[in-house]
Amino acid sequence: PLVSMKEMLETAKANSYGVGQFNLNNLEFTQAILQAAEEEQSPVILGVSEGAARYMGGFHTVVAMVESLMAEYETTVPVAIHLDHGSSFEKCVEAMYAGFTSVMIDGSHHPLEENIALTKKVVDVAHSLGISVEAELGRIGGQEDDLIVDDAEAAYAIPAECDQLIRETNVDCFAPALGSVHGPYKGEPNLGFDRMEEVSNLTDVPLVLHGGTGIPTHDIKKAISFGTAKINVNTENQITSVKRVREVLNENPDMIDPRKYLGPAREAIKETVIGKMREFGSSGKA
Ligand code: G3H
Ligand code: ZN
Repeated sequence: PLVSMKEMLETAKANSYGVGQFNLNNLEFTQAILQAAEEEQSPVILGVSEGAARYMGGFHTVVAMVESLMAEYETTVPVAIHLDHGSSFEKCVEAMYAGFTSVMIDGSHHPLEENIALTKKVVDVAHSLGISVEAELGRIGGQEDDLIVDDAEAAYAIPAECDQLIRETNVDCFAPALGSVHGPYKGEPNLGFDRMEEVSNLTDVPLVLHGGTGIPTHDIKKAISFGTAKINVNTENQITSVKRVREVLNENPDMIDPRKYLGPAREAIKETVIGKMREFGSSGKA
């Protein structure tokens, strides 16, 4: 069933595992992720950026696609459709009315008080509809769709500010930017675990780790031990699927039927997602 992230993440946090947010880019991504979740009996969060929603035909199209695939697959595991890095109150409301069960309001580029006011406004509407909300403080480096943060701008969240935002807004989960990056890392990631521990000591709210691609398993485990219950992955599925497309097309230069190269790409995404669900510990937890 389609659900919000609230219960999913509270259960994950209480039982020390993480739920993956896997981003949708097209039909094949959606199929692969839903199939992986059902096979693994894992809860799952489908992340949809504004850019990806635009590409797929808008929020309503995404919801209709997800709902009809879930009916077709007879999905039994909990699934959330989540707006990733929502850029404004209006976009969040638009997603909610289209049927999203969860939204992120990314006010991280605003000063603290403005971020709090904006997040609170989104929470008020969302909670009246049973929809969960994620907020962010600090700045995650790298690029995801329209969101570009260069190295100089990337900033670590301040624990006291995190605590203030969480208490004043009543968000359901919270992403403190602590050195994670969208897209591939340059070298080993250097996550601010001291601050993550401080934040997790200040709040009961499940934490979110963005930029999940390229984070080694020992760091994933450490993040989970410090209250992380949601881990976002997009780039890794893009890398494994395009690699498979290249292989197939190199071996078959005359191939023209998209089903023949996108089918194997879909398999590659499914294998990657299954690997992540096992690594995060969400397999068998639905
Ligand atoms: O919001 C989405 C994620 O943070 C994805 O990060 O593309 O580096 O895996 P990633
Ligand atoms: Zn992100």
